[in-house]
Amino acid sequence: MKESLLRHLVCPECHGPLTLAVDAREDQEIERGLLRCGPCARNYPILRGVPRFVDTDKYVGSFSFQWNVHRTTQVDSLSGHAESGKTFLMKTGLTGSELKGKLALDVGCGTGRFMEIAAELGAEVIGLDLSFAVDAAYTNMGRRPGIHIVQADVFKPPFRPATFDAIYSIGVLHHTPSTREAFLSLPPLLKPAGIIAIWVYVWSGLYSQRLDRVRSLTVGLPERLLYGLCWVFVPLLHAFSWIPILGRLTNYIPASNQKRGLAWDVMDTFDVYSPRYQWKHTEPEVAGWFKEANLKEIKILNFPVSVRGRQAGA
Ligand SMILES: C[S@@+](CC[C@H](N)C(=O)[O-])C[C@H]1O[C@@H](n2cnc3c(N)ncnc32)[C@H](O)[C@@H]1O
Ligand SMILES: [Zn+2]
Repeated sequence: MKESLLRHLVCPECHGPLTLAVDAREDQEIERGLLRCGPCARNYPILRGVPRFVDTDKYVGSFSFQWNVHRTTQVDSLSGHAESGKTFLMKTGLTGSELKGKLALDVGCGTGRFMEIAAELGAEVIGLDLSFAVDAAYTNMGRRPGIHIVQADVFKPPFRPATFDAIYSIGVLHHTPSTREAFLSLPPLLKPAGIIAIWVYVWSGLYSQRLDRVRSLTVGLPERLLYGLCWVFVPLLHAFSWIPILGRLTNYIPASNQKRGLAWDVMDTFDVYSPRYQWKHTEPEVAGWFKEANLKEIKILNFPVSVRGRQAGA
């Protein structure tokens, strides 16, 4: 953690100010220490370079596992792909002119792949995630200038109101107990005229119904077992897709097939069948939440369901 992060942080419980005690430092980074809240006397440790505002990863154990096993698979600078840069633009519409010199929040940062893109576009960016993906994100990019990482819950963000110029969340809010409530926790963190952009899973009728039926069998499986099954079944399902009749099986048990290597598809398939929560939504529903939060300039982007809007003011 960089000391400069402290000015943006407050106690997630009482919103009181925090004071910092450093136990171990490496160059600019505080590797170990404590954040203390004066008003409510709660303590939040800094461990392995990351301030921890939660003491467990609650219902996101599958993501703690997934993002530490696949720490580099989707990070453009470490994987040799350019996928995250393209995806960021497609799902948020955020550009360099909107991010340069601004403070951005990446909600559900995972391994930090989109923080890298936002930072390249000139933003100072704070990544928040409930899972131990924060350890992967910290290893990947926590020491880079202008990048900060916190382990916290989107329902209790450790920030002052009106802190951020931009907030984005890609593929995250539908993995919480309530996508709408998770979303509504974010607009108060925007400065006047700040931008918020989210992408959540789309409801696709029969396809979604079939997927949820398979998920009802897989979500409870131990992570390592399900992950092992993905390594067995993903190549089999890829092979079946070429065979008449057998190929229809892939309509009922879809497996990712992104043509970016087997590890990517295994990870993506695990990402579909393992998370505890995985809601799907329509564009009018998500646009409705933006209206409910009194956001302006609401825009539905081409990739469903990607919506952005702007805080009133200034
Ligand atoms: C599918 S991953 C997406 C990660 C990243 N945005 C990406 O696209 O690579 C969903 C992430 O949401 C995080 N998440 C789920 N519920 C959360 C919550 N209540 N607060 C913060 N993060 C949460 C998970 O830990 C996980 O890392
Ligand atoms: Zn407090």
